[in-house]
Amino acid sequence: MKAARAAAPGKVILFGEHAVVYGRPALAVPVAQVTARATVAPGGQGFWIEAVNLSKRYALEAAPASDPLAKAVELALNRAGLSEPPAGEVRVESSIPMASGLGSGAAVCTAVVRALAEALGLELSAAEVSALVFETETLLHGTPSGIDNTVVAYGQPVYFVREQPPVPFRVGRPFHLLIADTGRPSPTRVAVGDVRAAYERGPARLTAIFDQIGAVVDEARGRIEAGQPEALGPLMNRNQALLRELGVSSPELDELAARAGAGGALGAKLSGAGRGGNLLALVTPETAEAVREALVAGGAAGVIGTWVGETLKRDA
Ligand code: PMV
Repeated sequence: MKAARAAAPGKVILFGEHAVVYGRPALAVPVAQVTARATVAPGGQGFWIEAVNLSKRYALEAAPASDPLAKAVELALNRAGLSEPPAGEVRVESSIPMASGLGSGAAVCTAVVRALAEALGLELSAAEVSALVFETETLLHGTPSGIDNTVVAYGQPVYFVREQPPVPFRVGRPFHLLIADTGRPSPTRVAVGDVRAAYERGPARLTAIFDQIGAVVDEARGRIEAGQPEALGPLMNRNQALLRELGVSSPELDELAARAGAGGALGAKLSGAGRGGNLLALVTPETAEAVREALVAGGAAGVIGTWVGETLKRDA
């Protein structure tokens, strides 16, 4: 094993979260402004994992079966055909807020798999990395659709339908999003479980909502490809209204969405599992500053700006 390092971006779901678990399409894009990084160093005794953000350093063999980083390491070692871990360490560090819909779990595991692949001389395609990281996602989420590992491993905008190969899509004209953190972490598993319970109570009502979300996704993809991003504003508001009907918004998210609108955003919606996590607001160069201020005044714990459709650097 040689020394190696790799990185992976965060992500946002532009349209279609939750309905994607039930087979409807969704659109997701990488967010390069936040990243996870993994560094592999050979040597020492045994194999160690250092999770800097969790202030933890532990031996691979002592990790519980539910530990996604250990799972990522084991999957990469298996893929390299190693039955015993080599002596060394992987150090993982991330600037992606945890449990807030920005793909932090998928990104740290993607960085680990890529760094180990590089360290062990393995060439893995994006599809192979994505498939390995999907297995780590099942530890965190239970029944993930696979959208997070896909967009993070491919590192490009994807139109995603569960259990189908992802379709990268073209962004006709870049557009500017503000990503506002409610400051409230929200485990995906809980929101997904609550939607499942609602679905079991009223499948017809939920199916109708999922279908409407799917239609919004398809229309949004057409607008993005056609280079008409301003048309996404009303679609974001519509998606947000449908997510509210699903019960996955929250007072904080509703407040931030209202503030974004009052500040001049073209549209706003939650992104990811909801209940907390992040809100997306579509802005223009003219409105960006006013919307950012409105979001902070409305209680946002942090606001990140990103341009969708700009080329992304895959490795740091
Ligand atoms: O992990 P998050 O917050 O990005 O949410 C994932 C999106 C869901 O559609 C809610 C769940 C899934 O597995 O697709």
